[in-house]
Amino acid sequence: MDGSEVITIERFIMEQERLHPEATGELSNLLYDLCLAAKIISRHVRRAGLTDILGTAGAVNVSGDLQQKLDLFANETVRHSIQHTGRVCVTASEEDEEPVPVPPGKPAGKYVVLYDPLDGSANIDVNVSIGTIFSIHRRVTRKNGPAGVADCLQAGKKQIAAGYILYGSSTMLVYTTGQGVHGFTLDPTIGEFLLSHPDITTPAVGKYYSVNESNWNRWTPPVQRVVAAFKNGEGRIQPKNARYIGSLVADFHRNLISGGIFLYPADTKNPHGKLRLLYEAAPLALVVEQAGGRATDGCRSILDISPEKLHQKTPLVIGSKDDVAFAARILAAEAVPQK
Ligand code: AHG
Ligand code: MN
Ligand code: MN
Repeated sequence: MDGSEVITIERFIMEQERLHPEATGELSNLLYDLCLAAKIISRHVRRAGLTDILGTAGAVNVSGDLQQKLDLFANETVRHSIQHTGRVCVTASEEDEEPVPVPPGKPAGKYVVLYDPLDGSANIDVNVSIGTIFSIHRRVTRKNGPAGVADCLQAGKKQIAAGYILYGSSTMLVYTTGQGVHGFTLDPTIGEFLLSHPDITTPAVGKYYSVNESNWNRWTPPVQRVVAAFKNGEGRIQPKNARYIGSLVADFHRNLISGGIFLYPADTKNPHGKLRLLYEAAPLALVVEQAGGRATDGCRSILDISPEKLHQKTPLVIGSKDDVAFAARILAAEAVPQK
């Protein structure tokens, strides 16, 4: 790109589709649907302090997290943008206890969308970057039968596409369909996502380490050793700068662009970690691996984990491949297979 060319995400997706003569256009259209949802959520995020969309909705989700009004708005916005199109058979979200099949009478398509509608909810009311994360699978149940949880419980390596929207200093959409990672920035004056970061790759060694160090006393000694190594240096690992926003998407994106490692290890309070496999760890694992990075649960590749429960949690170590490998060498020694 010589800087003068303006490529909208719609045009980019169409050109990617042309590389696959067998493509039907359904995935392209599903990605457009998610773009629309992103623009609608972005509009509300940008004006959150001026409309009655801040604060809690008064209920908790299946993970026990207090639901914010924007969690629920984003949840409905994503589902309403994709459910009636005939491209999707079932959706599953952090905010819905069970999968939501396409309503009777509506056409059911071949795709499954798993999503975290609003990531970083604790940051909504204090104007800190938040995001949306999505994962797309192909249905595995019989075409005219009922779609449901079996279609959702697929390993991350089966994903057809994955990505996220970051409502940061600008609104960006970053996604992969397995052909590299591409970033688009929303130009609100024309309402278009424009190609701004083609072919994103992430450095092998990171500048930053991101972890909530207030959990230090709840970690195992090997986890403490890994974090201390990133903080102070150990062997060939040079000391890194600490950066922790508390929104996974924001911490992940900064590390993807600049190089870094994000860790949410298991601890005595969260024995399986805090982050959810299907709609947080797995989609970001596909993105980071397509960008040359790595993602593990400390030792196993996130993309290889076969989920057993919809809201299953996993420890997460994700980012620059040499840093993730360093952590794995230490953590694998103490790893007890996650049930
Ligand atoms: P969500 O708002 O979707 O529940 O996600 C919050 C997650 C993630 O965004 C972030 O990395 C992590 O919670 C922060 O957890 P701590 O506040 O425990 O560090
Ligand atoms: Mn989240
Ligand atoms: Mn969320």
